[in-house]
Amino acid sequence: VMKPVVILGVFVADTAYRADRQPRMGETILGNSFKLGPGGKGSNQAVAAGKLGADVTFLSRLGVDPFADMAKQTWAQAGVKSAVIDTPDSYTGAAYIFVEEGSGNNAIIVSPGAAMLISPADIEASADLIRAAGVFVTQLEQPIDAAMRALEIARGAGVTTILNPAPAAKLPDRIYTLCDYLTPNETETEELTGMKVSSVDEARVAADRLLEKGVGTVIVTLGDKGALLHAKDRSEHVPVISAGPVVETTGAGDAFNGGFAAALSRGVEPLEAVRFACAVAGISVTRPGTAPSMPTLQEVEALLAKG
Ligand code: RIB
Ligand code: NA
Repeated sequence: VMKPVVILGVFVADTAYRADRQPRMGETILGNSFKLGPGGKGSNQAVAAGKLGADVTFLSRLGVDPFADMAKQTWAQAGVKSAVIDTPDSYTGAAYIFVEEGSGNNAIIVSPGAAMLISPADIEASADLIRAAGVFVTQLEQPIDAAMRALEIARGAGVTTILNPAPAAKLPDRIYTLCDYLTPNETETEELTGMKVSSVDEARVAADRLLEKGVGTVIVTLGDKGALLHAKDRSEHVPVISAGPVVETTGAGDAFNGGFAAALSRGVEPLEAVRFACAVAGISVTRPGTAPSMPTLQEVEALLAKG
C-alpha cells in the first residue's frame, strides 16, 4: 500500500547563472547563460516524490505574485497537492544560484520570502494533514520552530519522520530525538558534529555521534561517493548510481530526499530505499535545473534494472 507523504518546506524561483567563476566583491563578470525555474528544497523534494508517483502534499507559504503562479503550475504538473497559505503582504522568494561551468558545482543564496513567516500556529492548523501521513519530510529553509512543531506532531502520530538538515545550521538537541531519519550531506554533517567528513569511514564516525543524539537512522549523502545508511544495528555504504555525465548537481540532495520518501511511502525497506534514492539523484545530476531535472518512476526503474 502507498501511504501519503507530507512535505513542509520552501518554494523559491531558482535564478541560475552559469559562469567560469564567481565575481569578486566589486567586480562584474559576464556569465555564459541564465535560467529561471522552480526551486526551493522542500518544493524540489515534493516534485521529486510526486513525479515518482507518491501521494504528496506540500505545506508552505507563498506570496501572491508571478513566482507563486510558477510554484502552483510546477506542483500541478508533478501531481503534488498544495496546502499553501497565500501571504499577500510578503513575496515568493528566490535563489541566486551560481553554477560553475565544467564542474557543475554550485553556490547558492536563498531568500525564502513568505516562507520565512511559516509559524508553529500554521503547523497546528495543518495538524490533521500531518497526522494522516505515512511519511513526513522537512528541511531547514523555513523557521526551525515550525519544523520542530511539525516533527513533534508527526512523531506523536507514529508518522515516519525525515529531517533533511539543509541548509547547514546548528540544531537544538531535542530535534534529533524527533527524527526517524536524518539526511545531512557531508558539509551539514560537519556542521552538526564539528567533525571532518571527507570519506565513508569519517562519515561513519560522525554518524555515530548523531545516533547518540537520538536519531533513529542517519543517512549521510556523500556526493560522488554515494550515501551511507547508519543505524545502531547496521551500517551500509551505497555507491553512486551514474546515469551519465554530470551537468548540474544543484538539487541532487532534494532528488535523493524526495526519492527516499517516495520509496518509504510504498513500504520499501530503508536500504533499498537509499539505493532507489541514489538512482533518482543520479539521473537528476545529468540534467540542468533542480525541480525540472527530477526523473519519473519509469526512468529510475530502468536505471536500477541496468544493475
Ligand atoms: O537544494 C537546491 C535548492 O536549494 C535550490 O533549488 C535553491 O532554491 C535552494 O533553495
Ligand atoms: Na539537476
